[in-house]
Amino acid sequence: MKPNVYVTRILPESVMQSVALNCEMGYWAKEDGPVPRDVLLESVQHIDGLLCLLTDKVDEELLMAAPRLRVVANMAVGFDNIDVDACTRHGVMVTNTPGVLTETTADLAFGLMLATARRIPEGRDVILRGEWKTWSPMFLAGRDVYAQKLGIVGMGRIGSAVARRARGFDMQVFYWDKERLDESCGAKYMAFDDLLKECDFISVHLPLTPDTKHMFGKREFSLMKPTAVFVNTARGPIVDSRALYEALTYGQIWAAALDVFEVEPIAKDDKLANLPNVVAVPHIASASVATRTKMAEMAADNLMSALSGNNPPNLVNPAVTDSQSYHEKRGTA
Ligand code: GLV
Repeated sequence: MKPNVYVTRILPESVMQSVALNCEMGYWAKEDGPVPRDVLLESVQHIDGLLCLLTDKVDEELLMAAPRLRVVANMAVGFDNIDVDACTRHGVMVTNTPGVLTETTADLAFGLMLATARRIPEGRDVILRGEWKTWSPMFLAGRDVYAQKLGIVGMGRIGSAVARRARGFDMQVFYWDKERLDESCGAKYMAFDDLLKECDFISVHLPLTPDTKHMFGKREFSLMKPTAVFVNTARGPIVDSRALYEALTYGQIWAAALDVFEVEPIAKDDKLANLPNVVAVPHIASASVATRTKMAEMAADNLMSALSGNNPPNLVNPAVTDSQSYHEKRGTA
């Protein structure tokens, strides 16, 4: 008998076909928004596997509603939408999609740095509003990127990929992370506060955890240079958005580029995103056709591999195999 699965959004056709070939598949068919919570809770009642997005919350309530659930395959590298400990207790494997989105995400982080420092979106707005009168010496003058100091906070796969790009711009690259890396990472370690004080650009590449929540607040922004550009393509709640708003408004820092927000989606009149010194985009760091397709394929492979009794390639909670419920669900208790 084929396992029952639920897919929380329409994925590329080839991925939907391959899941449907191997599983009894239900899915949320409306493309314009996430599956409503009540529909999700109803839909997971008899499923063995869930392929979900970062917009879907997988918590104790969902796990209680899905007594047969064996795997949650998240189509994202970050999995802060999932209560992993609760999944482990319930014998549910959790998987993510690391690696495939590294370069695409680094491209966007670097693109945002350039766009913000060189005021590219402001330039476009001026043209579209018909306000370009003439060439003027200091018109839309921004900040150089080349040869400046870049501070990377979180030197994992994506942070390292941003560092590689920065070297092509002759930037001096520094990083802070919990773990110090060897010299071959191509960036110099700096203590966190020193990095905030010294760097011209600060780019965040950390996962959201209880330790990183609001890691950037009033104190951190007050340490930065008044010319600093702050870039967040990681997760919104790592930054206290009120403190960032104040830092940008009072000139404590020069500008910010944001792909992620404390609460998503943000409204059209969001105060932070409407500041003239903010470049905001709607959580699109990994959004190239090739990368999003690979992420969907990877999530589907993880899902089907777990359901066919194997250890999925990107298992986030290997301790799950020690849980009693894991074995009960498989009849191996
Ligand atoms: C996107 O934000 C991801 O975590 O993959």
